[in-house]
Amino acid sequence: MRICILGGDGYLGWPTSMHFAARGHDVLTIDNMGKRLWEARAGVAPLMPIKPFPDRVADWNASYQGKPIRHAVIDIATDYAGLRDVLTDFQPDAIVHYAEQPSAPYSMAGRAEAVDTQQNNVIGTLNLMFVIRDHCPGVHLIKLGTMGEYGTPNIDIEEGWLDVTHNGRQDRVLFPKRPGSLYHLTKVHDSANLEFACRVWGFRVTDLNQGVVYGIETDEIAADPANRATSFHYDSVFGTVLNRFVVQAAIGQPLTVYGKGGQTRGYLNIRDTLRCVELAAMNPADEGEFRVFNQFTEQFSVQQLADRVAAVGRSMGLYVTTQHIPNPRAEMEEHYYNAKHSALPALGLKPNLLTDAMLRDMIAKVTDNRDLVLDSHIMPSIRWDQRPARPKIVRGAA
Ligand SMILES: NC(=O)c1ccc[n+]([C@@H]2O[C@H](COP(=O)([O-])OP(=O)(O)OC[C@H]3O[C@@H](n4cnc5c(N)ncnc54)[C@H](O)[C@@H]3O)[C@@H](O)[C@H]2O)c1
Repeated sequence: MRICILGGDGYLGWPTSMHFAARGHDVLTIDNMGKRLWEARAGVAPLMPIKPFPDRVADWNASYQGKPIRHAVIDIATDYAGLRDVLTDFQPDAIVHYAEQPSAPYSMAGRAEAVDTQQNNVIGTLNLMFVIRDHCPGVHLIKLGTMGEYGTPNIDIEEGWLDVTHNGRQDRVLFPKRPGSLYHLTKVHDSANLEFACRVWGFRVTDLNQGVVYGIETDEIAADPANRATSFHYDSVFGTVLNRFVVQAAIGQPLTVYGKGGQTRGYLNIRDTLRCVELAAMNPADEGEFRVFNQFTEQFSVQQLADRVAAVGRSMGLYVTTQHIPNPRAEMEEHYYNAKHSALPALGLKPNLLTDAMLRDMIAKVTDNRDLVLDSHIMPSIRWDQRPARPKIVRGAA
């Protein structure tokens, strides 16, 4: 298979690029290294230092006997011609689209960050749509969405579509979305644009509504962690919750639970992300089909995760405590949550569920690198309800 990975320098994109290359596929990986700029602006960094994108590709190609990974540095939101030319030349069978600004807190930091996120994500996907329509017709697009698109409705969450009976008539509609941040909204906009492209232009799209990913290791990374590590974030801007708890346990900081901790979401191991994307690629959507898979393997509340990490940390002799802090987000802290996720197991997914052994291994790996942890960026600094300070207007003043 000829497969293009957009966002190939990222936490998921780099392991995905190696995963497909190691299985004999022809891989073209594209990134603008924009995440590194966002990290620098936020003053955060991944746990393990990672080499520049071209260098990590060169390292892989030097050490791996199979087909080399090709790479290109292109901003898909601002360089339509660059994206068009490289994809027209490569003619992929499948495109995996990870190349978006992925942080909800970043998108809620202020006007500039919200505009940056929406322009980058929505226009990047639109550019890709026109490249596909005009230059790569028939390609299967595998687009990373998020379970956060749905929010926390008081009904079961279906896989993308909902059968509705209204005033005695029936139809199948996109599942109603009620996302919790301006970042999550970009994924909703993308989904709507891509469903349109399937309906009107006959695209083949798999929208992967992914849960929260955790983990540090894949087969390819385990073989050479020093050169192949992925960009593991634990900070309050780009880090995900389980990764943060593991780091807090390793460095002796209390595990910070936002609010009551009843917020329940779907989670999956990074190894399962790679497998799900592979299963989607090997079983493409039909022409004109907008296919949605809910990509997660287990549901946990934040409190349940904190309790699991604390118990494993203590069994390793670490002093681990839990602290409830004011929730910076606007979200329900106790709610119903039952999301369907049977499509990927039906294609053959055998989940790597969260075990104590896995947590122990993650905590041990982070402990080995604890000197690299920047602990000043773990506490949240961006609040959903923040308003800019307004100058006081005194009416009638001269
Ligand atoms: N990590 C998770 O838990 C998670 C959960 C649900 C969905 N997702 C989605 O999966 C995708 C990958 O997530 P991740 O954690 O690997 O994020 P990441 O930030 O580590 O990777 C995204 C990559 O895309 C690149 N990129 C962004 N905009 C680009 C542009 N305009 N042109 C070219 N490259 C661009 C970035 O430089 C970065 O390397 C994202 O779309 C994210 O929203 C992630």
